[in-house]
Amino acid sequence: MKLLQHTLFVSLIAFSLTPAYHGVEIIGGRDVKPHSKPYMASIQVLNKATTSYEHVCGGALIRPNWVLTAAHCELGFAGNDVQVVLGAHFLSRDEKSKQKLQIEKKIPHEHFNKKSPENDIMLLKLASEAKINKYVKLLNLPKDKDADVKPGTHCTVAGWGETTLCSNSASDTLKEVKLTVIDRKTCNSEDYYNHKPEVTKDMICAGDRKGRKDACSGDSGGPLICKKKYRGIVSYGIGCADPKKPGIYTHLSSKYLHWIQKNLGVQTYNMTADGLY
Ligand code: ARG
Repeated sequence: MKLLQHTLFVSLIAFSLTPAYHGVEIIGGRDVKPHSKPYMASIQVLNKATTSYEHVCGGALIRPNWVLTAAHCELGFAGNDVQVVLGAHFLSRDEKSKQKLQIEKKIPHEHFNKKSPENDIMLLKLASEAKINKYVKLLNLPKDKDADVKPGTHCTVAGWGETTLCSNSASDTLKEVKLTVIDRKTCNSEDYYNHKPEVTKDMICAGDRKGRKDACSGDSGGPLICKKKYRGIVSYGIGCADPKKPGIYTHLSSKYLHWIQKNLGVQTYNMTADGLY
């Protein structure tokens, strides 16, 4: 499936500090074994002109009716219909494993500001619950709330991000790549991001020393998994696969884990209250 203006729109509008996007795929990656990441969600926006849905962002299913993604993905929704596709491998194919769900409510972090990647986290409440099966499963949030991810840790990121240099096409298949966590001091150093933006403890910097591997446009919102635990969300980067401009991920730190709990909790409470009255 073609990744059209939406993703470019998202990337450019979300981070206008960013120079032209040279979208490549999940760079240096490979196709995942189909359905080996059953928590992966493709967030798609209806293109009214073509009447087809187009992939804009990734996400992870954390409850049968909740998907966790990046707040800047909302900028690509632009008031159009949005659907979440679960159980996909090939975006273009009519796979029996696919479940297409509408969004009932979106909850971007209240302090997300499109000028910076801070608080780049969003919850999407689905209009109905996904059926959990072989192809669609939940990704557990980390339980060790205060754990940080040490520099040098190996992580994996997956997504349907763009596939060719400076083109508008998304990957039709889900791809993954292995990355290494870079310490925040290095990431903030002059050669790297030089504090623009400031890489905080609520962010994780991850890349490849040689700049061969990275996430890219269209991979946003997807999960960063380190030692089998869900640790981050694809958020930001200047260009793609530049060794001095590694990917910046929203860190699922205690701050965001509390934020998630608070929002899921309120929802459960309301549902109970509605049921009572
Ligand atoms: N903001 C991009 C998106 O909307 C993804 C950024 C990740 N970039 C990177 N070089 N790791 O899909």
